[in-house]
This record gives sequence, structure tokens and C-alpha cells, in this order.
Amino acid sequence: MTREEERIYDGEHGWANQTCMRILVRLGQLFGAERLIPIGSAHVSGVSYKTLGDAPIEFLRTLADSGGTVKVKTTLNPQSLDSHYLRGKLEESLQKPQLDILRQFEKMGLTKSLTCTPYYLQRLPRGSHHAWAESSAVVYANSVLGAWTNREGGPSALAAAIIGKTPDYGIHKAENRRPNVRVKVEAKVHNETELGALGIFLGKTLGDKIPAIIGLQKTSNDDLKQLCAAIATTGMTNMFHLDDDKTAREKERIDVNSNQIERTVDELSSGRGEPDLVFLGCPHCSLDEMKRIAGFVEGGQVRAGVEFWVCTSCHVRRAASAYVKSIEKAGGHVLDGVCTVVSWTEKLGIRTIMTNSAKTAYYAPVLNKAEAVLAPMKDCLESALQ
Ligand code: F3S
Repeated sequence: MTREEERIYDGEHGWANQTCMRILVRLGQLFGAERLIPIGSAHVSGVSYKTLGDAPIEFLRTLADSGGTVKVKTTLNPQSLDSHYLRGKLEESLQKPQLDILRQFEKMGLTKSLTCTPYYLQRLPRGSHHAWAESSAVVYANSVLGAWTNREGGPSALAAAIIGKTPDYGIHKAENRRPNVRVKVEAKVHNETELGALGIFLGKTLGDKIPAIIGLQKTSNDDLKQLCAAIATTGMTNMFHLDDDKTAREKERIDVNSNQIERTVDELSSGRGEPDLVFLGCPHCSLDEMKRIAGFVEGGQVRAGVEFWVCTSCHVRRAASAYVKSIEKAGGHVLDGVCTVVSWTEKLGIRTIMTNSAKTAYYAPVLNKAEAVLAPMKDCLESALQ
């Protein structure tokens, strides 16, 4: 530690800074870090009251009341309700603690971004260091954007935000970012849903290894987002390389065929009946996805008895106001700052969720007590409309 870091550690800068420094130093000791490094941004998960519960609220309040303030741009993951649609449907006892959580974060200077796609709000220079929680965003930042972040937990991301530094270990070090397993995709992967299924399959198979994935057809960043989210859902992989055959040639090899992808899609599709919710936006929709959805529903009407939700950030929602209008005109709901998985769908009587997201399909049976139907965006939209 530097002299200044030692002073913070010893409490000269108050309890909040001391507590955060102690969290970071302990983490660094556990993983053999030799120093703290400055970060460009932080992203904090554990925002939804549904997944957070009551216990951590007191800790957040004490941190905020003791002068905890973030030193770098710090964004927040989705909460459990939105201010437009769900707020009117959920009981007061669920809303009040959620608002309390947001108030504490705001007091500490966090940006109320409420999104799992913070990379749409800021440009991350390649090779820059960050402290992000939210596993899907971590894999996207490392693999697609070339930024460097470990997979933080909510508390360690918040501690890093308040100190402005993170311990130098894991994939903050160049030697730990090299691929150590070669994944050959022999299957033809047709759409974002199958990319998600590939991610679920690989997450289970890889543990925390870093794959070099070869054989994937060229695909958009929006579709890659599904692979990022899914691979982190079932495993501890924090990044992958695409088409890096040279560095991966000598490594352990895993082949993925069509049967494995199809079987994974089938396993994730537990629902056999008609969906009562069609959900797009896990991870949160980009502007381009909003445009595609709006173009598809233009002139159509959502079927009676079906909820159609599109989740995104308030930032993208503002930029997509014309698309939002089209979706709402068709009877859909654009929900910002929230996500289906961390909201209270079971309290709204939703029992079957149709989605293009393998991550949502994986979590829905446990976190939403709902069956899932996993299908590409186009099929989801066709199912939602009359
Ligand atoms: Fe985001 Fe919720 Fe999916 S936080 S990645 S939309 S489960």
C-alpha cells in the first residue's frame, strides 16, 4: 500500500473509506495482489430489493451516512420495478425498501443508470481497468470491448468505486487474459438464442477457463451479448477470445456440435403452454434492438391476455423515444431500469415467460417461479402479436 492508502486503511479518512479499503485489501490478499490500481469506472450489482433483501440496506445506509462517496463514474444494475408500469401494480411494502436502496446509492453519488448494459452509457478505452459487477457486462467488457475487469461482487465493486481503485489480480494482469482452452464450434449457430444456448453449455463445461472460440460465423455485438450473458450464468468464465486459433492451438480442445446446442435449447424451454409474458431485453436492449422490435410490431397489436415487455435503460429509452411509441401503440410495455428476472413477475400471476434470452430462461423457474419458452426474437414477437 502507498502511504495514502495506509492512512485510509487506518481510518484517517473516516469509517466508510476505511471499511472499503479493508474490503479491497482483504480481497487482494486472498488473490495474491501486490498493489491497488486506479479504475476508470465501477458498476454495482445487488440493486433489486427482490434479490438483495433487507439485511444489506442498513450497511448501505451506514456507508452513505459515514461519508462514503464514489471517486469514479459508478453505474447501477436494474432494480425490481420501473416508475412507469410496475410501480402501479406492486404493493407499497415492496416499493418502499426499493426506493430506500436507491436513495442510499444516490447519496453516495452513484449514477441511477439501473441497467445491466452500462457499456451503452460510456466509452471504455481498450485496455482500461474497471471494477464491474454484473457478470454479463463483465464478459462483454472484456471480450467484445477489450476493457479489463474482474467479476466483482456488489460490495467489492462499491468498495472499489469509493476508493477509486481495485486490487491488481485476475484478468487485470495480461498473462491471465490468455486463452487456455480451445473451443471449436462445429454447429451452425443460427441466431441469438442458439448463441445463448452455446454460452449456457460452455459455462457448465469451462469452469473459470478462458476459451478461444473458433468456428462461429460472424455475428453482431447484440447477438454476442447473449453469449456473454449466458456463459457467465452457468460458469465463472470472465472472458473469451473469438477466432484466436493461433494462441489456442496447443491447448485443451472442446468441440461443440448441433446436438449439444439443440439439447440445451430444449432443456431451457421448460414451458409447454402459451406464454402469458413475452419478454425481450435480457441483457437490456440496445438502440438497434429497440429499432428492430419497433419495426416488427409496427401496425400490429399485442394479443389479448398476453403481456409484452421490452426492458432497457432509461438512457436508451430516451434515445429510442420514437421506437418506444411504436411498441406502446402496439400494446407492449417498454420498462426501463428493471428486468424481468429481478422483478416480481410471480406476484403479477405470470406463469410462463417466452424470451430470446438463455439467461432469463435459465433463471425463470427459480427466480420467477415460471416456466420458460426460449426462442429467437422474431418468434417471440410473432407469438406476442395477434
Ligand atoms: Fe440484465 Fe436482468 Fe438479464 S440484470 S442480464 S436483464 S437477468
